[in-house]
Amino acid sequence: MKKFNFWSVITAGFIILLSGMPAVSTEPAVPLGLPHVEYPEENPQTPGKIALGNKLFNDERFSSTGMVSCATCHEAEKTFTDSPLKVSEGINKLTGTRNAPTVVNSAYFEKLFWDGRSPDLEDQALHPFLNPVEMGLKDHTPILDIVRTDGEYKKLFRDVFGKTGTSITMKEVTQAIAAFERTKISGDSPFDRWYYGGEKDALTPEEKQGFDIFVNKGRCVSCHVIEQTQAVFTDNRFHNVGVGINDIQADIPGLAGEFIKAKLTASEVDIKILTDKRTSELGRFAVTQNFDDLGAFKTSTLRNIAVTGPYMHDGSLKTLKEVVEHYNNGGVAKKGDPVNDFLGSGIRPLNLTDDQVTDLVLFMETLTSPEFARKQPRK
Ligand code: HEC
Ligand code: HEC
Repeated sequence: MKKFNFWSVITAGFIILLSGMPAVSTEPAVPLGLPHVEYPEENPQTPGKIALGNKLFNDERFSSTGMVSCATCHEAEKTFTDSPLKVSEGINKLTGTRNAPTVVNSAYFEKLFWDGRSPDLEDQALHPFLNPVEMGLKDHTPILDIVRTDGEYKKLFRDVFGKTGTSITMKEVTQAIAAFERTKISGDSPFDRWYYGGEKDALTPEEKQGFDIFVNKGRCVSCHVIEQTQAVFTDNRFHNVGVGINDIQADIPGLAGEFIKAKLTASEVDIKILTDKRTSELGRFAVTQNFDDLGAFKTSTLRNIAVTGPYMHDGSLKTLKEVVEHYNNGGVAKKGDPVNDFLGSGIRPLNLTDDQVTDLVLFMETLTSPEFARKQPRK
């Protein structure tokens, strides 16, 4: 006779009880290795808003030539960048001064843009429309004219925001775009499966050695942060790691002085930075006007880094190997070159061997999420 199994009855009962309970949270599950996304109270996520944001993000009519959308420079197929461009191309193929960062995981950044000049995704979305080398509009009126009169948009703005006609403003437009962007989070990389998922063989021995260098000898982790339960790979702070500023070294006092005197509005600052290479190199200084921030840029996330080259705010380093060599040389292109006066204190020669350089690169290649992994199988 089969024995009565007390525990299986209890377990089955518990499972039935659980499945009958209402969900505690409506927040979508986050991929392995990532923290929860914090949604602004005044801009909650809804499926309709996200779909509307996706449509706005891809609409080329919101540019002076009718040919450039947000997606032109943040293409889904290219991990929401314009890789392999060094700096972005906007209307009429005009080029800016900076490399387009990915929108993926930007939900986790405390400030937006390489110099952090924008406080949140809603504010950030206002600027590309008006930048003369990006979407080239004189003001936001053409966008509002379209969303207030186009049949599909009229319906969507009514359904999502309960607004029609002139009550639709850029506030709703940018809220929808930001809501869409906040869904672009991606983790679950081989690194995540190894470090957080306990899959011992998700990384090769060389990749694990690369991780060890990332944390110890390379001290990369001091800025590209890895935490106990998740990793965004950024401290959300600004550092001068010796990229770009060497070229304007002699002109810094003049450039900085001029910039302070000009007293520009936020929109004028955005335009000046993306149209004037030398102003761009001032970095975070353009926002804080603090001399400690000269040549300082936001620590990038390293997630999906292998598929989003070239690298750094100016796209000046082509490969991950060049990046590691830059750090290995102590923040200069060639070993022994003079470092800039404002170099961050954490940047000094690392004395990595050639094998260690290779392993560090291999480690960074494990940070690609499955949805953005290149088609070829992993070795
Ligand atoms: C012409 C190419 C181009 C277009 C069009 C464009 N972007 Fe960008 N985007 C860039 C570049 C370049 C940067 C970096 C600029 C900087 O930091 O100064 C950037 C930065 C960003 C960032 C900040 C990411 C970070 O890590 O801080 C977000 C978010 C973003 N863009 C979203 C958008 C949205 C939304 C639109 C449409 C309204 C848009 N972009 C249109 C090129 C473009
Ligand atoms: C002092 C802080 C700091 C340290 C230490 C540091 N980084 Fe960075 N990292 C940054 C900043 C800031 C940027 C952006 C710099 C720029 O664009 O001028 C960056 C950019 C990068 C990029 C390019 C990201 C992109 O999207 O283009 C890579 C790759 C990178 N770091 C890897 C490393 C590695 C590997 C190490 C260790 C050898 C390391 N970093 C150490 C702060 C740091």
